[in-house]
Amino acid sequence: MRKLFYIKTYGCQMNFYDSTKIQDILKPMGYTLSKEPENCELAILNTCHIREKASEKMYSDIGRLSKYKKNKKLAGGNMIIAICGCVAQAEGSEIIKRNKNVDIVLGPHNYHKLPSILSKNLKNPVIKNEFDVREKFNFFPKPSSSGVTAFVSIQEGCDKFCTFCVVPYTRGAEYSRNVLDISIEVKRLVSLGVREVTLLGQNVNAYNGKFDFQDSKNLYSLAQLCSFLSKIKGLERIRYITSHPADMTDELILEHKNNSKLMPYLHLPIQSGSNKILKEMNRRYTKETYLKIVEKLRNRTPKIALTSDFIVGFPGENKSDFDDTMDIVKSVKFAGSYSFKYSPRPGTPAFLKKFDLDDRIINDRLNILQKELNLQQKQFNEKCIGLKMKVLIEKFGTKKNQYVGRSEYLQPVHIFSRENLIGKLVKVTIKSLTSFSLHGTLS
Ligand code: 5AD
Ligand code: SF4
Repeated sequence: MRKLFYIKTYGCQMNFYDSTKIQDILKPMGYTLSKEPENCELAILNTCHIREKASEKMYSDIGRLSKYKKNKKLAGGNMIIAICGCVAQAEGSEIIKRNKNVDIVLGPHNYHKLPSILSKNLKNPVIKNEFDVREKFNFFPKPSSSGVTAFVSIQEGCDKFCTFCVVPYTRGAEYSRNVLDISIEVKRLVSLGVREVTLLGQNVNAYNGKFDFQDSKNLYSLAQLCSFLSKIKGLERIRYITSHPADMTDELILEHKNNSKLMPYLHLPIQSGSNKILKEMNRRYTKETYLKIVEKLRNRTPKIALTSDFIVGFPGENKSDFDDTMDIVKSVKFAGSYSFKYSPRPGTPAFLKKFDLDDRIINDRLNILQKELNLQQKQFNEKCIGLKMKVLIEKFGTKKNQYVGRSEYLQPVHIFSRENLIGKLVKVTIKSLTSFSLHGTLS
């Protein structure tokens, strides 16, 4: 019998990747993906705990799913509600206390247990939140179908313990997958038509993996892994996300220069430009060391572009701290960035700090920062007009004979062609810019 499942993903790319793996686990069990939850036998929320708003959204979505579950029951059926991801890990049985309609709660290392849980007749709620990332990686199903680009998880967890962040508590300690498993996954993706992989990890540049499960002495760094993967025929591009400045080694900086498949585009979150706040955040670098890394990157690879994350309104942030953040933004010039209002997360060290900054001040600072970051992104995109850029074509556009691809800097690029270019790396002369998309002609 055909069973339908629905999955909603919140938060980071790691969660989106996990959701694709959950789908690959469910399909052989006879489940078919549905875009809407109403008529499904299984509804999954793959949740995010990074900021308060993300967790609250999950609770309101459980409320919505509960109504559908009730309707299904009235019609003689059932809908299993499963909560996965970081809120499941952090709140566990609390979720079921808040809403009795939830059947399954699974932390991020426990998705592979779904087949055995679903094969039984669920009488009582099941909660699984053990930390065993090794088992999870070993269980990973082979990637099924894909487009031109794909994510590949190479590392999970974080040992950095930034004082604002829940990740070390929800994803556990750092663990790196072995090189061989990663390269087998990448090769399989390439055989399915993938031309670009983004290597994923919460602290991806802390990657430190064995070659295979037996090899204990020889540990590979991220730079060595990228060099190894770049030998795979048919793979055109490698990216990685998310990096920590303290792990940005000279070796990795040099790899950007030497490895033509490694894209000159780096997400390197600074969070704040104030040394006082960086110390309070336990970020393990100063603004001076961050600037030094940027200088080295740009000296070795002049065309490299940088993006960052920022947190505004961290406890104790005063006007001069915020000014330091604005100064560093103005001196680095980012190609795009994310900025967030500090969100106190229970269980983190910063949660215990006095947090009494007026919300209006935080909003004002966020607005000022975002205005500058948007301006810098626009200026970066404008500088691309007239350039010949390498573009990896990913899909059809909305117009006849139109194709959409991505530049080395992840900008969407639109072109027209009579020939099918999907999966091809082409050179495009950029002619114009509309909001965040570039438009050009084949050159
Ligand atoms: N409040 C606001 N932003 C946060 N981030 C992580 N934790 C918090 C928090 N408690 C942001 C950081 C990180 C990004 C993924 O989310 O900027 O780099
Ligand atoms: Fe969170 Fe810091 Fe680890 Fe990034 S490095 S996941 S911000 S604790």
